[in-house]
Amino acid sequence: MLAAFLIPTTSADASAPLRTHAAARGKFIGAALATSQLANEATYRNTAATEFSQVTAENAMKWESTEPSPGQFDFSGADAIVAFATQNNMQVHGHTLVWHNQTPGWVQSLGASAMRAAMQNHISQVVGHYANNPAVVSWDVVNEVFDDNGNLRTSFWYNTLGQSYIADAFRAARAADPDAKLCINDYNTEGINAKSTAIYNLVSSLRQQGVPIDCVGFQSHLAIQYGFPGDFQQNLQRFAALGVQVRITELDVRMVMPRDATKDATQATYYRNVVNACLAVTACAGVTIWGFTDKYSWVPDTFSGQGAALIYDENYQKKPSYTAVHDALAGGTTTDPTPPTTPGTPSAGNVTSNSATLTWTASTDSGGSGLAGYDVYREQGATDQLLGRSTTNSITLTGLSPSTQYQVYVRARDGAGNVSADSALGTFTTTAGPGGGGCTATGTVQTQWSTGYVIQPVTVTNTGTAGITGWTVTFTLPAGHTLTGSWNATLTVSGQTVTAKNLGYNGNLAPNAGTTFGFQVSRPNGNTQTPSGYTCA
Ligand code: XIL
Repeated sequence: MLAAFLIPTTSADASAPLRTHAAARGKFIGAALATSQLANEATYRNTAATEFSQVTAENAMKWESTEPSPGQFDFSGADAIVAFATQNNMQVHGHTLVWHNQTPGWVQSLGASAMRAAMQNHISQVVGHYANNPAVVSWDVVNEVFDDNGNLRTSFWYNTLGQSYIADAFRAARAADPDAKLCINDYNTEGINAKSTAIYNLVSSLRQQGVPIDCVGFQSHLAIQYGFPGDFQQNLQRFAALGVQVRITELDVRMVMPRDATKDATQATYYRNVVNACLAVTACAGVTIWGFTDKYSWVPDTFSGQGAALIYDENYQKKPSYTAVHDALAGGTTTDPTPPTTPGTPSAGNVTSNSATLTWTASTDSGGSGLAGYDVYREQGATDQLLGRSTTNSITLTGLSPSTQYQVYVRARDGAGNVSADSALGTFTTTAGPGGGGCTATGTVQTQWSTGYVIQPVTVTNTGTAGITGWTVTFTLPAGHTLTGSWNATLTVSGQTVTAKNLGYNGNLAPNAGTTFGFQVSRPNGNTQTPSGYTCA
């Protein structure tokens, strides 16, 4: 009954934009925005304003934009972002003051004392420009200062100034705006690894020295083909224990193109996991997505052959990852009652004596939780056998019996546990095993009525390379079905398993030769099942 108190409210609530739900959880939900799209595209502008409570300038606050030549500051792009944020009651995260990319050549070629002075002046001017603007709440003071192995990156900053540039940058930022949260930001730091541990150690030592660092940003440029960092929340938590704010600063989840429903579903789980990790850590201020529509994303330009990393598609349609973010922020209060569509009939390729690859037309899932995977079953009458599971619309089955007919079907599941209808049955027969012997059996329904059916012919084929002098075919009768007659073979029944043996005149089969038998069965009125699992030995 206690749970009832947690269940909100109206359906309008459930369909509220992301920022409404985020606010209710005490977090921001943000997006990186680009000035030209903001200026030129109403859908872009309106979606951003409606859904997000926080903005990071994708490029407009970088050094090449704000100080393209020494001492010549240009805040036009940055101001446009801040104005949009102010109009729409969004907070702004300043990105980024000291970075080795998108910094003009004139900075990079300075000598040590001139470079230090240029850095301090840049920080002082840019942070100072927004110091009295309440929308601008935080800054990436340094960005990507570590290599993945945990060594400090040998950027022009480090090579010219040594490690001290980092502490100096933070001091300059604090001097320019005592209220802003000052962050260090990096990528590949979501899990606990050499790089995130190096940042952890640096932050810890800077704070011990009294250097003003308040916050750690985790870019979170993820990819579904590399797996989700399962210790993300634990990693955020260890930083939180240092007394700093943490934030997800540049979330996107790319995939190898082309996009499909299965990849979308996997992507949605990554988005959900990131949002849930932030929700679980009190010190996590919120999540910024690096863009929001696949129409505009740095991913295809940067990671060849990859894309579709964001939560809206190119036409501003919400993807499963949008729903995942939404539902995570909404606290799991919205539900997905809609099962996936029925998968296509599985068809078998690469059939050997013990394996086969099945493929089928993928299901789609419109309920929002996204496709979770497929279960592949062998039809066996009463209790069907689960042969395997797959997150794609294909599976390679192994460990099959030789010379055996398999009738298989596929069922799709979604992230909320809804199950689709079963696909139609696909049929294949494994080849004879090594050793030359072997036969196959395939049954065909000749006629059926509401209370029974005739299977004729069951075709028995010698698939081996030598002649055989007898054969035994087994198959399974569905529950409640009773054998009422047979011809051209001797049939014995044990439980629901029927064993058919050749008669004297049709046991000898040359290689590739075949023979047939048949049988009749009665079944409960209205039951539509027929036998399955013909095996020949
Ligand atoms: C990217 C932008 O998205 C691109 O438009 C630009 O061409 C290059 O930079 N880490 C960061 C971001 O901190 O600033 C980068 O943004 C993506 C990686």
